[in-house]
Amino acid sequence: MSVSDDERRELRALAERLAREAGAIALDGRRAAGSSFGGDTKSTSTDLVTEFDRAAEAHIVGELRRIRPDDAIVGEEGTDDTGTSGFAWHVDPIDGTTNYVYDHQAWSCSVAVAHGDEMIAGAVAVPPVDELFSAHLGGGATRNGVAIEASDRSDVALALVGTGFAYAADVRRVQAGIVAELIGDVRDIRRLGSAAYDLCMVACGRLDVYYERHLNSWDAAAGELIAREAGAITSDSVGGRARPDDTVAAAPQVHAAFLAVLQRAIDASPGTS
Ligand code: IPD
Ligand code: CA
Ligand code: CA
Repeated sequence: MSVSDDERRELRALAERLAREAGAIALDGRRAAGSSFGGDTKSTSTDLVTEFDRAAEAHIVGELRRIRPDDAIVGEEGTDDTGTSGFAWHVDPIDGTTNYVYDHQAWSCSVAVAHGDEMIAGAVAVPPVDELFSAHLGGGATRNGVAIEASDRSDVALALVGTGFAYAADVRRVQAGIVAELIGDVRDIRRLGSAAYDLCMVACGRLDVYYERHLNSWDAAAGELIAREAGAITSDSVGGRARPDDTVAAAPQVHAAFLAVLQRAIDASPGTS
């Protein structure tokens, strides 16, 4: 059963509200904590989690369980509810926790909902800069309510490219090897520290391209839809369907050329043969 346009709009509005509210919880917590602020670690000694990651996720999950009790929910901080409705929510309460802890501005709260294998709606709140990005399938993308578009960049040598790195040392060494090859083929590289925000940057033309491997569904779900609805082309690194463990989002006229230089970089870098 397909999801009507009205329902997509409603889900988008709900994603916006939850991202905004959870973002406000995290921002208030960060401001109150001041300079002496830390957290626990997760997958590695550099993979941080704070009490506000958990509080923000608890708020979103509590609201979803109340309003949409039959939906599945997966959240980075441990939520894994199975549902019966066919809808599944993907929640990253703070995407960019390292930035959050160090008090850099590039962190976000990402909420998205899929129906079956199709992403329907998503929102990314960036509380430190008061930005709210959102989209619904077929409904375009906005920043603070105003329509946004990917850039018209066509020359890959002039493309500003965002990427990110996994926490595991052996994986990030390989990722950095690819960047070392790629950096000579593009304008420059940005590592902002929040995959969800990076994808929104492509959506509004502040980046021409973003790519990253080894993401989880909660990192990419909302941002990938927002980038696509803003006219970017999203894919995996060989032109198939984008997926969390291999995501490319690029301005439409530079996507094909970027895939070519990315492939060259992958082939030329150590550890990826
Ligand atoms: C991380 C950020 C980062 C990306 C990592 C993610 P977290 O999410 O999105 O930019 O490079 O791959 O794990 O841990 O801050 O939620
Ligand atoms: Ca994340
Ligand atoms: Ca997170």
